[in-house]
Amino acid sequence: MLEVQGINAFYGQAKILDDVSFSVGAGEVVALLGRNGAGKSTTMKTMMGMVSSTKGDVTFNGETIKKLPSHVICQKGLGYVPEERRIFTELTVMENLEVGKQDKRPDAPFWTPDKLFKLFPNLAEMRNRPGGQMSGGEQQMLSIARTLMGNPSAILLDEPSEGIAPVIVEQMAFTIMELKKEGLAVLLSEQNLHFAKLVSDRAVIVEKGSIRYQGTVKELEENPEIRDAYLAV
Ligand SMILES: Nc1ncnc2c1ncn2[C@@H]1O[C@H](COP(=O)(O)OP(=O)(O)OP(=O)(O)O)[C@@H](O)[C@H]1O
Ligand SMILES: [Mg+2]
Repeated sequence: MLEVQGINAFYGQAKILDDVSFSVGAGEVVALLGRNGAGKSTTMKTMMGMVSSTKGDVTFNGETIKKLPSHVICQKGLGYVPEERRIFTELTVMENLEVGKQDKRPDAPFWTPDKLFKLFPNLAEMRNRPGGQMSGGEQQMLSIARTLMGNPSAILLDEPSEGIAPVIVEQMAFTIMELKKEGLAVLLSEQNLHFAKLVSDRAVIVEKGSIRYQGTVKELEENPEIRDAYLAV
């Protein structure tokens, strides 16, 4: 349902991505793995139309989205949670959720604040709290919940477990498994295998802007050479 075919990306003259291809199916969780600066965020930004690619294509439900502006891509049902979270610190949890609200979509689960509070019980307890008075992990949850208010059929999560407490990491894994059950296509980026292997069906490894490996997480676990060569331990 989500397919990246031979894209590149530049920041100024510097070539950041080269011939990147992979796909994510409905109900599938794919981990985009790689070290600092490997090109994970740039791949997601290119998929979201925030960085342009001069080659290849990005298709979503069989339709090219490569030349579309980001907000149109979101409206088509591709959700994106950036690394830096970008919640509104002055707005409460409820108000942040309202900002993300979009119409019901025939091909995707429909989310309400109450349904999201079942997925994120700790957000329910702080529904009237301003976003700025929440921990990093709680803000990460809120950022994902707000994106789900747009009723996406696929979602890109840029380092969802980064800098959050172990107990919240567990909850994050539970959340991603629930999204998979709901039939969403999930692409998540990670630097190491620990979190990714809890939730992912497949792994795609990027280094210096190129894909170095694709396979099941099980295959990757059984392949220490690849892990040592491309992943942070
Ligand atoms: N706005 C920018 N301008 C110029 N170069 C950039 C910019 N953003 C990223 N880069 C460079 O592009 C390369 C890929 O960066 P990217 O942010 O995609 O990596 P990443 O895999 O997400 O890393 P991290 O795990 O640290 O988030 C790096 O060499 C980085 O320095
Ligand atoms: Mg990044």
